[in-house]
Amino acid sequence: MQERLRQLLAAYKGETGAVIPLLQKVQETVGYLPQEAIGQVAKLLKVSESEIFGVATFYAQFRFTRPGDHTIKVCLGTACHVRGGSQIMETIERELDIKSGGTTKDYKFGLERVACFGSCALAPVLVVDDKVYGRLTTSKAKETIAQYQ
Ligand code: FES
Repeated sequence: MQERLRQLLAAYKGETGAVIPLLQKVQETVGYLPQEAIGQVAKLLKVSESEIFGVATFYAQFRFTRPGDHTIKVCLGTACHVRGGSQIMETIERELDIKSGGTTKDYKFGLERVACFGSCALAPVLVVDDKVYGRLTTSKAKETIAQYQ
């Protein structure tokens, strides 16, 4: 990661006011914004780490923990909620031994909640990476996750 980050930041040397594009590029390269990267960006742009962190936390697009190899997003929007979305989430949290927003210890899975995927007719829905799984039951959700183990 160090070398990739170093090369990336070298390309932005001398640029000011490029905080967001630079943070986007770091996240694209590393997968998230580690503390170390925030420190280096701050140094490069000659501002404090807390300023960079303040900007980054303002935008929902930035993440500060390493993502899992597979991202599981469980919909908890209204249609999914009334059809058991919460039970699907609880089941997956139990199966993976993590809470929503967390990543498994082996970094295999990250788990997130989403408000609506726009696939309400298939509720309850979850998405693994970019693949949508609908009309789930708790056992179907377990089977779905097992495919990625
Ligand atoms: S509420 Fe879940 S897809 Fe719309």
